[in-house]
Amino acid sequence: MSNESEDRQTQKAAALREEILAKVAEYYRLAHAAKPFTPGESLVHYAGRVFDENELINGVDAVLEFRLTHGRFGREFERKLGAFLGAREVIPVNSGSSANLVAISTLCARQLHNRLMPGDEVITPAVTFPTTLAPIIQNRLVPVLVDCQLGNYNIDVEQLEAAYSPKVRAVFVPHTLGNPVEMDKVVEFAKRHDLFVIEDTCDALGSTYDGKMCGTFGHLGTLSFYPAHHITLGEGGAVYTNSRRLARLARVLRDWGRDCFCGYDNPPDGKCGHRFDWKIDGSDEPYDHRYLFTEIGYNLKSTDLQAAIGVAQLDKLPMFIEKRKQHFHLLYEHLKRYADVLQLPTWSPRSEPSWFAFPITVKPAAKFTRTTLTKYLEAHRIETRFLFAGNILSQPGYRQIDCRVAGDLANSDIVLRRTFFIGVYPGLDAPQIEHVLNTFDKFFGSMRSNA
Ligand SMILES: Cc1ncc(COP(=O)(O)O)c(C=O)c1O
Repeated sequence: MSNESEDRQTQKAAALREEILAKVAEYYRLAHAAKPFTPGESLVHYAGRVFDENELINGVDAVLEFRLTHGRFGREFERKLGAFLGAREVIPVNSGSSANLVAISTLCARQLHNRLMPGDEVITPAVTFPTTLAPIIQNRLVPVLVDCQLGNYNIDVEQLEAAYSPKVRAVFVPHTLGNPVEMDKVVEFAKRHDLFVIEDTCDALGSTYDGKMCGTFGHLGTLSFYPAHHITLGEGGAVYTNSRRLARLARVLRDWGRDCFCGYDNPPDGKCGHRFDWKIDGSDEPYDHRYLFTEIGYNLKSTDLQAAIGVAQLDKLPMFIEKRKQHFHLLYEHLKRYADVLQLPTWSPRSEPSWFAFPITVKPAAKFTRTTLTKYLEAHRIETRFLFAGNILSQPGYRQIDCRVAGDLANSDIVLRRTFFIGVYPGLDAPQIEHVLNTFDKFFGSMRSNA
């Protein structure tokens, strides 16, 4: 083909792309227009995808480009998210569970001089999401389970010292439902005993403690981009850190255990220019860096399509966080009148939670159970959820795990039996919140008339 006809073809393709993307925006407005809300009939979700034409446009654009694997959207997503978090390194993965797996596996990496070894202990709360605990067990480490505090539902930081043994090498703390753990206490404890700290920030993107982003206090932070979370890529997650060394190992573990990291979208010999300068036992010939495996790894990478959607979601993140905070406070200000029977959420005055949800525990003084209340809410089309696994040792898959329990897990058992949460996500609006509050009022009204 001549240069001229090649140019014409490129121009035509560019014009067609513009036309397609304009149609996508039009499609969004028709297909995804907000539906009217009818109290008691329309479902009040606890979470969901909040998006506009920009997510669809980016997604379609990524398909038209058809790189599919990590590319220009992936690089932009890493840069934007890193800037938001104040983290030097962002390593996207395919889920929050994978982020937790990569984080723990990084601390067990063969090339990490101070690595965690099988049998080493990791302190973590008993009230948790299962795949915060699972990678500890999967890496043959021993979890040390600590109770949570009622109201903030985080690990009870006052019990850290009592949970310590010389075998403890790390602390893995989730910021439960977006509520920041008192990280000054965790960091001070970890420094005293020379421990690694990982923060599961899957529920807490944008939450701060002492003005600093959660996930940046410890060695590694993790995120989930499942639709329930602050931003969504469908599935997806990320590990983030300010340590170049840990980031390098996290990428190796995510990418099959492969040592080479500069070959993605660079010249055939990689950016470093040393692709064939490597030695391997058993061969005098140089070995291709792309096939040099220095760790026993996984493939937990995410795609450029996911990142394309993520880039558009990140533009909305400050607004999402603001709405989550507003919805939380509307619920709190109204529901505090029922504080004699409902344990409302508590948080540190040093924190600014970017709430994932609004947790409630039915107090023993109440003349109703969690089941009575959640059934009532669900019957009025308000979604409720339990606080993940409750005391995870009660879960069938976790009853027999090899672990150490520090102190008792009395609060974790209460969470198992009496805690639930409702939504604060940015897809809610004033009429939906009003319906939630009216429904609580009606519930308590009916309780009084039955008394
Ligand atoms: C605290 C916490 N950690 C980890 C995860 C797992 O994330 P994913 O669903 O993306 O695997 C979740 C999921 O909701 C979570 O809430």
